[in-house]
Amino acid sequence: MSTQLRPTDVKRLNRQWRRRTEGRLALLVESVTQPYNLGSILRTCATFGVDQLWLTGNSADPDDPKVGKTALGTSAKVAHTRLSSTAEALDAARAGGYKVVALELAKGAVPLHAAPLESDVCLAVGAEDHGCSPALLAGADAVTYIPQIGRVGSLNVAVATSIALAEARRREWATFGDEADAPVGN
Ligand SMILES: C[S@@+](CC[C@H](N)C(=O)[O-])C[C@H]1O[C@@H](n2cnc3c(N)ncnc32)[C@H](O)[C@@H]1O
Repeated sequence: MSTQLRPTDVKRLNRQWRRRTEGRLALLVESVTQPYNLGSILRTCATFGVDQLWLTGNSADPDDPKVGKTALGTSAKVAHTRLSSTAEALDAARAGGYKVVALELAKGAVPLHAAPLESDVCLAVGAEDHGCSPALLAGADAVTYIPQIGRVGSLNVAVATSIALAEARRREWATFGDEADAPVGN
């Protein structure tokens, strides 16, 4: 019978994965205005070890208490910088050695499983209402979309971010083999 891990066991498990993982991940958030979405994005960034978050446009403020309701203290664990334009954020990502992959249901986008997510990658997501700006889509090295089979227009931006960050990490983790693939506690 399986039982939930205790907090100390979760910490040990996280440490093991942290030691194995080498790929660098960053995130560019363009005009995500809803505090609960940004809070959720920050928590996911902390979970998957995003090194740097760039905020542009009228994105919510990581220090807004409303962001804290979903970030649950993780805002302080993710380095974040606000820049005045998407062009500046793209330059900062490139200067940091990242390839920029925008997430959008857009012409020319490739499905997530076929996207160039090998390290070092800066994912980029767009606004809740109008999505990634033309400047972001034009400036990215690649654009990817998450295939949808339901009758829906798009995913929530925080959920889309989580799926893509998890996929980027999964690419590296899937190459580790036996020891990493063993069940927890063996
Ligand atoms: C709610 S969506 C934007 C709305 C959408 N462009 C529209 O006008 O209906 C917010 C952001 O989430 C991300 N997103 C949501 N669903 C996605 C999907 N299926 N594939 C890739 N990105 C997605 C994109 O970054 C997008 O800019």
